[in-house]
Amino acid sequence: MQVPFTINGRKVTVDAPPNTFLVQAIREHLHLTGTHVGCDTAQCGACTVMVGGRAIKSCNVLVGQMANAEITTIEGIAEADGTMHPMQAAFKECHGLQCGFCTPGMVMSAIDLCTHYPNSSETEIRALLDGNMCRCTGYQNIVKAVQVGGAAMAAAPKSKTTETA
Ligand code: FES
Ligand code: FES
Repeated sequence: MQVPFTINGRKVTVDAPPNTFLVQAIREHLHLTGTHVGCDTAQCGACTVMVGGRAIKSCNVLVGQMANAEITTIEGIAEADGTMHPMQAAFKECHGLQCGFCTPGMVMSAIDLCTHYPNSSETEIRALLDGNMCRCTGYQNIVKAVQVGGAAMAAAPKSKTTETA
């Protein structure tokens, strides 16, 4: 089936069997490999992307459900000139990553978290990030990065990932 949608501001049509998972379409059809596959069973969050301004696990939805959707992946959150999204910059500054495998999904979930639940406490951030696992167990700095990134997002003009939220 042919499924038209917008990804990172670009209109595309993916031609894939209807039982293709969104993460497969993103990685294998569109070659956007920043979105990772950790478990394939909706547990680890490595595959998290934004659909309509909300973070979802792309291994758990079918591409056929994405007709005319607005999708953003980790490749789409920086500015056109390469300036990092405030949450990306915070992960870098706070050393919120080790091997980096979970990081794209963590960043997408963190943007969603800070957009919809600004000023969350450390306990709330830990609870809201429950669906994203870091096998390097770098949670201490991840939480710090979310706090710093959230503050930077609140101080910055609306970004392209939050204005459709
Ligand atoms: S690969 Fe989707 S949640 Fe783990
Ligand atoms: S930084 Fe390695 S899995 Fe999170």
